[in-house]
Amino acid sequence: MSVNKEIKRITVHILQAMKAKGEKISMLTAYDYSMARILDESGIDVLLVGDSASNVMAGHETTLPITLNEMIYHASSVVRAVKRSLVVVDLPFGSYQGNSMKALESTIRIMKESGAHAVKLEGGVEIEESIKRILSAGVPVMGHLGLTPQSIYKFGTYTVRAKEEEEAEKLKTDALALQEMGCFAIVLEKIPAKLAKEVSESLYIPTIGIGGGQHTDGQVLVTHDMLGITKDFQPRFLRRYVELFDVIKEATQQYIKDVKNRDFPNDKEQY
Ligand code: KIV
Repeated sequence: MSVNKEIKRITVHILQAMKAKGEKISMLTAYDYSMARILDESGIDVLLVGDSASNVMAGHETTLPITLNEMIYHASSVVRAVKRSLVVVDLPFGSYQGNSMKALESTIRIMKESGAHAVKLEGGVEIEESIKRILSAGVPVMGHLGLTPQSIYKFGTYTVRAKEEEEAEKLKTDALALQEMGCFAIVLEKIPAKLAKEVSESLYIPTIGIGGGQHTDGQVLVTHDMLGITKDFQPRFLRRYVELFDVIKEATQQYIKDVKNRDFPNDKEQY
């Protein structure tokens, strides 16, 4: 008897079925081939090619400078590595706001040139036209509410959003509107856990939280934060599973020592 070893790819429908069954969704960011291979082989459900690449890969202070071409480069590298995970790509700042035709053109470039499976946009009813146009082209859309880093200069700080009644009400309205428009999931970033719970329970599409507490339908972290590669970023919601900055530094220092001491390469490490 032959065993079917084919890996079942995660789809947007599978994610919605997971919510219906009460199974939590795991999501992490990825920006390059090697890391994406490890995360995909580990069994992560969704890989987000986040515009946080602007911070962790390029060293910018905000997510605003990253370009569409750079996002496509990161996304193509991730897609080449992935056998199972759903790959979602952030539309970068300036590639969709205020112009739904531009939003569609940016999305088509991402889908054609990288082979990704879905896109993510930040915002609620203000970007309805862009979301609807992208959906009409058959591309799945993930929403993003709460702390939306592309609007950092409007907020002024990276503190918790929607603590006040008015902003919380707007967020609830936006979440329902995104579901109504046809989004397949919504990221809820840095909002009170009580509000994230209420929103998650009001929707049939999954919510993926980052700093939104334990009641969202899934969780997402920036991989470089979760692995301790970034050092200075220490928000309360972050759990570091390993301190890779220190591990890599120690290995590098040992390598430098071995080279200086003529210990590397040894007789067996040469031709
Ligand atoms: O760009 C990103 O990494 C994100 C996550 C924080 C959700 O949007």
